Amino acid sequence: MNTPKASATYSPTLRQEALLLPRILLNRAVTALGARLGDPLCRMQRPGTDPYPIYRAMRERGPLYRSRLGYWATGSYAVCDEVLRDSRFGVRTTEGVVTFSDDLTRPALGLVRESMLKQDPPDHTRTRRVATPAFRRGDMVSRYGVTIETTARELLDRLAARAASSGRADLISDFATPLSVKVIALLLGLDAVDEATVGRLAHCGMVIGAALDGLGSRRELREFHAAVGELDTLFEGLFAARAAEPRDDLITTLLAARDTGGLSHDELLSSCRLLLVGGYETTASLIGNAVLCLLGNPEQWKQLTAAPAELAAGAVDETLRYEPSLQATLRTAHTDVDLAGHRIPTNSTVLLLLAAGNRDPEVFTDPDRYDITRTGGPDHLTFGSGIHYCLGAPLARLEAETALRLLAERFPALHLTGPPGPRPGVTVHGPATVPVALK
Ligand code: HEM
Repeated sequence: MNTPKASATYSPTLRQEALLLPRILLNRAVTALGARLGDPLCRMQRPGTDPYPIYRAMRERGPLYRSRLGYWATGSYAVCDEVLRDSRFGVRTTEGVVTFSDDLTRPALGLVRESMLKQDPPDHTRTRRVATPAFRRGDMVSRYGVTIETTARELLDRLAARAASSGRADLISDFATPLSVKVIALLLGLDAVDEATVGRLAHCGMVIGAALDGLGSRRELREFHAAVGELDTLFEGLFAARAAEPRDDLITTLLAARDTGGLSHDELLSSCRLLLVGGYETTASLIGNAVLCLLGNPEQWKQLTAAPAELAAGAVDETLRYEPSLQATLRTAHTDVDLAGHRIPTNSTVLLLLAAGNRDPEVFTDPDRYDITRTGGPDHLTFGSGIHYCLGAPLARLEAETALRLLAERFPALHLTGPPGPRPGVTVHGPATVPVALK
């Protein structure tokens, strides 16, 4: 059996604190200079920026360009898809370093360093194989379908009660967040997740998700470490409980793999962090984005309310294409590669703007139109492509389809009562608040 070992410290070292601010200032200076010199990507770093005009500006430069931020970037569907499927690209350098994980301002990438998301074959093949059986669409529906439906109905009752007492409610904190957290908690096997635990997990997920785009202060660094500490304590408790009393669930499967040498303890912990952070924020944002897209296009909302069971799946898929809750990912060249007319040297990083690829006019007809009955065209890139294709896609779809179907059935008069609140960060994309009235 592998001996568990600590894989993170839960408060920053003095050295990390001392080096953070100069690094933040350097990053800001490079970004500001790049923006002045007309690099579209540098303009994206400003909070609240609409990314789509920037993606258009990028595509006007051609399918691939070298950003002043020091890496290559693409908003072309074809190039994103090609790189994701090309085994000459990986998620680590040829020396095995996870891209950007040595950047003090971006500790979130190091957090899942030992999970499949940041592993190249053969490690990726081994760790993904352990978890895959638990994520098949059929298994998801039969295992979690009823609970997702019941949980969503209960939360909508609560949303209605809140709206009745105060006249308004927040679709994110009263519905999308608790639904997504409860589903991930269910997947991980946490029993009886009360409101306080939902709040804590949501907070940890938000802090860690925002850190993907880089920290802005020492306070954020401390909050990040504290959030990781909180999650790891929860997971270690869960490991102990399942070791004492195994169940037919994902954690027991992962633990068994650790105990027979199929996973290291760090890989086990990293995988749990990935499932929680990668699974909850992205799905809650998907529900928030879908509601905003639908209410912003009233004729589409009307169509959905007329046939919720038939159109909910299309509404989810079109939202994933049009307004993805995960905007981008990274790959690193493992050899010199000729790509879209450029030579990409070994160990260079390419930023793949999946959200830009989803609006590429080369492959999607009228790409800036939101249409829940859209047909034709290739699959969107929002769940990635190739060997790292999102393992949680069936679960995210099932959850979001249930949420939209029930919302449309129960509250056809749903409308916004104010502007949505912006969410920190660029990579995970969705509203922090969506104030709504139900009648
Ligand atoms: C709307 C919701 C979601 C979106 C947009 C999303 C997006 C993605 C993307 C783009 C990747 C590939 C990243 C890359 O290639 O670098 C990925 C991988 C992954 N996702 Fe998701 N995801 C979502 C929900 C979930 C959920 C609910 C779970 C699990 C509970 C999950 C678990 C994973 C895992 C384990 C991987 C790693 C797969 C691998 O590296 O082989 N995701 N996701």
